[in-house]
Amino acid sequence: MFRGSRGSQTTPLRVSVNSQSIQRGSEETYGVPRIGRASNTDGTPQKGVFTMGQGIGTGEPTLIDSIYDDEAAPTAEQVAKVVAKVAGAGAGNTLQGRRIAVVGLGYVGLPTALSLADHGAEIIGFDISESRLAEIKSQQVDLLGRDRERLARHLEGELVKLTTEPSAVSSAEAIVVCVPTPIDAHQTPDLTALSGACASVVDNATIGQTIVLTSTTYVGCTRELLVQPLQARGFEVGRDVFIAFSPERIDPGVEAHAPDSTPRVVGGVTDECTVRAIDVLRHTASTMHSVSSPEAAEMTKLLENTFRAVNIALANEFSGAARELSVDIVEVIQAAATKPYGFMPFYPGPGVGGHCIPCDPHYLTWQLRARRASAPVVDAAMTAIAARPREVVAHARRILGEHGKPVSGARILVVGVSYKPGVGDVRESPAVPIIDMLASEGAHVGYTDSHIETIQTPIAGSLSHLPYPGDQHWDLVVVHTVHPDENYDWLAGQPAVLDTTYRLTDFPERHVL
Ligand SMILES: NC(=O)c1ccc[n+]([C@@H]2O[C@H](COP(=O)([O-])OP(=O)(O)OC[C@H]3O[C@@H](n4cnc5c(N)ncnc54)[C@H](O)[C@@H]3O)[C@@H](O)[C@H]2O)c1
Repeated sequence: MFRGSRGSQTTPLRVSVNSQSIQRGSEETYGVPRIGRASNTDGTPQKGVFTMGQGIGTGEPTLIDSIYDDEAAPTAEQVAKVVAKVAGAGAGNTLQGRRIAVVGLGYVGLPTALSLADHGAEIIGFDISESRLAEIKSQQVDLLGRDRERLARHLEGELVKLTTEPSAVSSAEAIVVCVPTPIDAHQTPDLTALSGACASVVDNATIGQTIVLTSTTYVGCTRELLVQPLQARGFEVGRDVFIAFSPERIDPGVEAHAPDSTPRVVGGVTDECTVRAIDVLRHTASTMHSVSSPEAAEMTKLLENTFRAVNIALANEFSGAARELSVDIVEVIQAAATKPYGFMPFYPGPGVGGHCIPCDPHYLTWQLRARRASAPVVDAAMTAIAARPREVVAHARRILGEHGKPVSGARILVVGVSYKPGVGDVRESPAVPIIDMLASEGAHVGYTDSHIETIQTPIAGSLSHLPYPGDQHWDLVVVHTVHPDENYDWLAGQPAVLDTTYRLTDFPERHVL
């Protein structure tokens, strides 16, 4: 039997609406659809029928067949189906006339805001950074082609309003929080942005609002940073405000993984919270998958990204084993990938970067440490991943040695410094420690990356993109990131190439890790 996990009581999860719960405002006031059991004339709920109440943009009430049967508690799968079906009943509706605030307009928040605006929502884009808003207004932001076009269009239109004023979110019917959740130099979660954003949302919350946290975070965070402070302000969650967690699955730089063609997970504090969150977020996803609680949704995101981290660490380890045994690791991975089940290909590389894989698993291990619990497989994977740039440098040293050159005084070029192909983002990029370790040993390091004009590193200092690297002499070229649609033929003329991407198979002087 499926049971909801609200507090200490375990009650079967029900998608229902208590008519008393809307005392403080009518459906019209809230302007969002409500769902509930259709009633018999005596007021008792009809079996097997859910209604979707009329809300702005939802049209006439809709009757939906349900798999519910009052006599039997539903399974988790049945509940998920009902919730998704009820909320999806209005698919095709627009968000016209509805006002949604997006808090944090970064890699996740800006495309989310643009996607909601495309469905007709009036957007209040709140960000604490004046400079970020200036970049957005001047369209100097790292976006995929489709989002660039959306941004240009909405900057000319009336729907998107940008502000640094936190109280602006008060007038929105829904608030979507997308602020960063990085780690600090000691790999400890840095909750500064998240606590600040949640505090300003709590301070400015108004009756009837749906608040969805989307930032990757530890399990229980939604309850600690939103539910409890809102309760302390006197709000009853599930009646006065509706809170859910729904992780973002954006894949920067990959057009094929557009969020609106990707399913999305959501977990509300109550069923009504889940349904209201779905009602907003279904416009940003292909389908919605509901789970029983914000905690389940929070942990889902941690599992997704930890799964990637562990598999990348495994691929790296296998690449070392393959080198030891004189086998081509890429050939092996491609062969294993022909298995139609039970295997998913991950490739070795110079380490991991960006805002997800190097950070997110630490949110889990940090939380477990406080409980004297551990996750040794995850710890081992994260330690191995963190050590990967050092291995790149050790290998560079070896290759130079084979060519009779010390690192000191060597001219070394790094190809691609962004953390992944197709993006102009160097956050947590392994290229930065690789450059700095080589520079600290006395190498003259340059880089080429058409997506990154300049970088600032702690040791090498300020470096600029070299657009014609093939015109210069390099003792060693370290290939770190290979961008799509770029020509790397000039590498063929280089005396030594260390390909940490394992993607450049046709160069005679190529070495891999
Ligand atoms: N970037 C990705 O690929 C990706 C993918 C999936 C999930 N995520 C998750 O989404 C979340 C956001 O990541 P991101 O990459 O968009 O971050 P980001 O650094 O690109 O942008 C965050 C924005 O939030 C703003 N901000 C910071 N504190 C604020 C506050 N108190 N109030 C209002 N605005 C504030 C910043 O000024 C910045 O513009 C993170 O938890 C991340 O783990 C990121």
